[in-house]
Amino acid sequence: MTEFKSKIRTIEWVDTFSRMVDQTLFPYEFKYVDIKTGDDMFDAIKTMIVRGAPAIGIAGAHGVVLYAQELKNLPRDEFIKKLLEKADYMATSRPTAVNLMWAVEKQKEVIKNSNSDVNGIIEELKQNAIKLENEDIEINKKIGDYGAEVVPKGATILTHCNAGALATVGYGTALGVVRSAFANDPTIQVFADETRPRQQGARITTLELTMDGIPTTLITDGMCSYFMKKGMIDMVVVGADRIAANGDTANKIGTYTVAIAAKYHNIPFYIAAPLSTIDINIKSGDEIPIEERSHDEVTHINGKAICAEGVNIINPGFDVTPHELISGIITEKGILRPDYKKSIAEAFKN
Ligand code: MRU
Repeated sequence: MTEFKSKIRTIEWVDTFSRMVDQTLFPYEFKYVDIKTGDDMFDAIKTMIVRGAPAIGIAGAHGVVLYAQELKNLPRDEFIKKLLEKADYMATSRPTAVNLMWAVEKQKEVIKNSNSDVNGIIEELKQNAIKLENEDIEINKKIGDYGAEVVPKGATILTHCNAGALATVGYGTALGVVRSAFANDPTIQVFADETRPRQQGARITTLELTMDGIPTTLITDGMCSYFMKKGMIDMVVVGADRIAANGDTANKIGTYTVAIAAKYHNIPFYIAAPLSTIDINIKSGDEIPIEERSHDEVTHINGKAICAEGVNIINPGFDVTPHELISGIITEKGILRPDYKKSIAEAFKN
């Protein structure tokens, strides 16, 4: 397996609190912030101090531990009842990435299955959160290594948003594929979409790839077809926030446009995501809840208005790429191929 070279640890449980990189400050500052209460964790997820599907999953798991610590003086039965309510609340901090609900559910299982006293349950929740953290990095390395097998020599890889170390505990999913490929072939390079309106591509992807010395070119969102037509893009790899049982995939707004352009130009379009991003309970992408975000994200850049006052705004945070446009879904169990209904069901069997 590829060695983990990136030094970024996005989120980590430290003794009694959660430490995370504050991603609202990029690219001006690289700073850690300590989150010490459940409500502060809810806000950190909602305001995107921590973002990216796997990272907010771990943040949710940490949030449950924080709430548990706050409720520790209650009698055991009451502690469990209140904590399960708080866990459900934590899972509502953002609606689209299913990793959040998945990780909170893992913590709820610990609470429900425990025979320990209150302090024992808190300890078990901590240990489970740390286990999920460590597994995330291991899973990403596997995704990276499977994905690297389909990266052509000297390829230029287009990515959208940030599905990197900073969207996970470390290493990344889509950028994990880039990292693993780069370890074997330093002639590969990345084209990073800016990713309006939050600019995760510009602010986060260029930062983490540059830190690792991976050649990266920043382009604006409207440029991808132009470069595809010129033969300058060999493949697309993006992350995912939720994948339906038929392979339809929600990812950052703009991903669908890239997928259509890739199909038109006959360029492979891959999703890289852990199995925890697959929601086998929903049949198709139509059932994926899409987050509507603040209108300021569209009307303003760095606090300055960029449009006429009072203009109508719609700001969905994600779109759904239909499974027909997806060449493969790179997971820790290998690359799933169409027919996705079958390959996804198969991946969940063993
Ligand atoms: O709104 P964000 O920044 O949380 O959205 C992130 C994405 O859309 C990522 O591509 C996705 O979560 C995959 S992260 C490995």
